[in-house]
Amino acid sequence: MTASRKKLFVKTFGCQMNVYDSGRMIDALAGEGFESTDSIDEADLVILNTCHIREKAAEKVYSEIGRIRAVKEARAQSGKDTMIGVAGCVAQAEGEEIVRRAPVVDMVVGPQSYHRLPELLAQARDRAVVETEFPVEDKFDHLPAATGTRLRMGGPTAFLTIQEGCDKFCTFCVVPYTRGAEVSRPVGAILEEARHLAGAGVREITLLGQNVNAYHGADRDGGLRTVGLAGLIEALSRIDGIERIRYTTSHPRDMDDDLIAAHRDIPQLMPYLHLPVQSGSDRILAAMNRKHRRDEYIALIERIRAVRPDIAMSGDFIVGFPGETDADFADTMDLVRRVAYAQAYSFKYSPRPGTPAAAMDDQVPEPVMKERLAALQALIDQGQKAFNAAMVGRTIPVLFEKPGRKPGQLVGRSPYLQPVNVDAPESLRGQIVEVRVTSAGPNSLFAERVGGGTQSEGTDSGRTDSGRAAMEAVS
Ligand code: 5AD
Ligand code: SF4
Repeated sequence: MTASRKKLFVKTFGCQMNVYDSGRMIDALAGEGFESTDSIDEADLVILNTCHIREKAAEKVYSEIGRIRAVKEARAQSGKDTMIGVAGCVAQAEGEEIVRRAPVVDMVVGPQSYHRLPELLAQARDRAVVETEFPVEDKFDHLPAATGTRLRMGGPTAFLTIQEGCDKFCTFCVVPYTRGAEVSRPVGAILEEARHLAGAGVREITLLGQNVNAYHGADRDGGLRTVGLAGLIEALSRIDGIERIRYTTSHPRDMDDDLIAAHRDIPQLMPYLHLPVQSGSDRILAAMNRKHRRDEYIALIERIRAVRPDIAMSGDFIVGFPGETDADFADTMDLVRRVAYAQAYSFKYSPRPGTPAAAMDDQVPEPVMKERLAALQALIDQGQKAFNAAMVGRTIPVLFEKPGRKPGQLVGRSPYLQPVNVDAPESLRGQIVEVRVTSAGPNSLFAERVGGGTQSEGTDSGRTDSGRAAMEAVS
């Protein structure tokens, strides 16, 4: 057949899990003759991979659909058809409502059903299709293995989803409803995907899951035993070519002794940990159903720092959870000072339909939330700047990922996930190189090469006493 390939445009919102899922959707549709494009104007199929975690998610999707409708109409003028799909967590949460409000949408598909995309797309040619069931089968088993598509997009780093869903039921969170119960992929399937990635030049893998450290996948002995995250990381560290391993995002209750020890024992495991706490107030933590107290969280971080003093801590915070008083918020500020985060994300509480907190009394007024958010973000920024500044003069290994800000530069990541800009030839892309940090901005570092060759990691150059580092959002 000589028919030209159809074009697929995927727009991704939200977390890294969605970035990974978008890659998988592209792979699943490659078998249907689709090839991915960066230009929406030439797309025969547009998929919005949506996020429902916070405010106005659904509204954003509807206005995005409005923009796509305009593209569709313009293309129709020249006789071209454009199909529109909505995927991700808004698809899961809104379902039928999406085609009711936006009849231009051909297909609504929840995160559990991406392996059925080819079939759903075929059905959608006749009438709008809505697929938001939670099938019993494991979607991971049905998706094609990782292909070159994502590798070309991702360079030397890749995401690898190992776990999905969440059983924690924090009272503010939609994830247990949109992504369902916790499911872990079997160890064998993950190792196979990781080997494939390594073979295609990937040096750094970020293991993804909504509650990734609750991972408990079936071992290769036919599933008689399960393996925790530490065991999985250990097995991954034996794969030739995988030089860096990260994981996100974790729950404090699932940080077990083995995983803490892995931060000491496995050199490939990077000294960076995103460990959301959400609030520094015991009263609010209880109302959030976080299942731990503030002092337990602090003690946990002390244990991790005891084995890996330089670990860069990151976190998530919600301000203005229902009933949060000035004193509760002061506890959060105090916790941030005590932990000395390298970096953290903070959000205004947003009532999510169907979650217990949405029905709680004492919703905090918007101006109060706004003020608290500004104060918290200023404190977090201050910590991040201080950490970046403390890196100046140090020699650290950087994995070069892509062209930097200026011509002749490459940008890579430090072990602490900070972007680092360095004058370096294109030939060093994909390699880990020792660099000396010359200056620091609020979100990134500038450095020069030392020596010039490729060096392996495992130097002690990344260690500091402060136990703090900085990063920038990757998604
Ligand atoms: N309102 C505000 N922030 C939220 N998050 C999750 N649900 C909500 C909500 N309803 C934040 C949490 C979580 C991060 C991914 O998003 O901090 O860790
Ligand atoms: Fe949501 Fe994370 Fe709580 Fe699970 S642990 S309910 S994903 S905030």
